[in-house]
Amino acid sequence: MTKLLENRVIWVVGASGALGAAVARRIASEAAIVVVSGRSVEKLKALTTEIVAAGGRALALTLDIKDRQSVDAAAKNILQQFGQIDGLVNSTSISDFGPLMSLDDEVWLDVLNSKLLGYVRTMRAVLPAMSERKRGAIVNLSGRGGKQPTATHLPGGCANAAVNLLDKGVADAYLPFGIRVNTVAPGPIASERLDQMMKSTGAMSERSAQTFNRPGTPEDVAEATLWLLSDQSRHVTGAIIPVDGGATYTV
Ligand SMILES: NC(=O)c1ccc[n+]([C@@H]2O[C@H](COP(=O)([O-])OP(=O)(O)OC[C@H]3O[C@@H](n4cnc5c(N)ncnc54)[C@H](OP(=O)(O)O)[C@@H]3O)[C@@H](O)[C@H]2O)c1
Repeated sequence: MTKLLENRVIWVVGASGALGAAVARRIASEAAIVVVSGRSVEKLKALTTEIVAAGGRALALTLDIKDRQSVDAAAKNILQQFGQIDGLVNSTSISDFGPLMSLDDEVWLDVLNSKLLGYVRTMRAVLPAMSERKRGAIVNLSGRGGKQPTATHLPGGCANAAVNLLDKGVADAYLPFGIRVNTVAPGPIASERLDQMMKSTGAMSERSAQTFNRPGTPEDVAEATLWLLSDQSRHVTGAIIPVDGGATYTV
C-alpha cells in the first residue's frame, strides 16, 4: 500500500522538542525522508537513530533559528542532498511564562525572534525552491494562546497570534505557486513545556483542564500535521486547525 508521504522530503524544525519529535516519527512512518533540526545534537541524533531503527529515513541538521545564515545553510544543505523540499514544519519555542510585570524586553524579543521570525526565516529559505516546482506544504505550530489569551503566557500568545496572521498571508501569496500553508494550534499538550507552564503559572484554566478530562498528546498534534502535509488535505490552505480538545472557545 502506498504511504501518505512516500519519498517526500520534509524538514521539521524544532524536532528536538516534544511535538516536533512526534511529528518527525509519524511522518517517517508514512515513508517521508525526514530532516530534523534544532540546536541539541544529542536529542536529534537519538531521534534519527530511533527513526532509522524503525525502518524510516532521517537526517539531523543542527541550526540556530535566530540566525538567518544558519537557517539558509541548512535549507541549502537539504536541497544539495535531496534536490527538493516537499514540506516544512515549524515547531520552535522558548520558555516565556510569567505575569506581564515579571518579563522584561529581552524575553519578549527572544520569543518573537525564536518563534515568529524563526518561522519567517525557514519559510523564506524553502519558498523559492518550492515555488520553482510549484508544490509544497508548510505547517506551522502556533497555539491556543494566539486566539485566547492567558495572562501568564502573553509573549508566546502574541507570537502565536502573529503566526496565525503570517500563515494566512503567506498562504494567500503562494496560492498561485501551488504551495499550501496551514497552522496547527495546539491547546495544552502533555509535554515538558506544559509541565514548565504549570510550574510557573499554577493550574490550567478551568476550561483547559476540562477538555476530554486530559491534556492532548504530541501524537494528537502529529496526526493533524501529517494530514496537512499530505495530499489528503490538497484543497486546504490558510486554515488554522485547533488540536485542543475544545479548549479554545472562540471562532
Ligand atoms: N507543548 C504544549 O503544550 C504546546 C501548547 C501550545 C502550543 N505549543 C507550540 O508547539 C510548538 C512545539 O512545542 P513543544 O512542546 O514541542 O516545545 P519544546 O519541547 O520546548 O521544543 C521547542 C523546540 O524549539 C527548538 N528551539 C528553540 N530555540 C531554538 C533555536 N534558537 N534554534 C533552533 N531550535 C530552537 C528546540 O530545540 P533545542 O532544544 O534543540 O534547542 C526544540 O526543538 C511550539 O511552537 C509551542 O509554542 C506547544
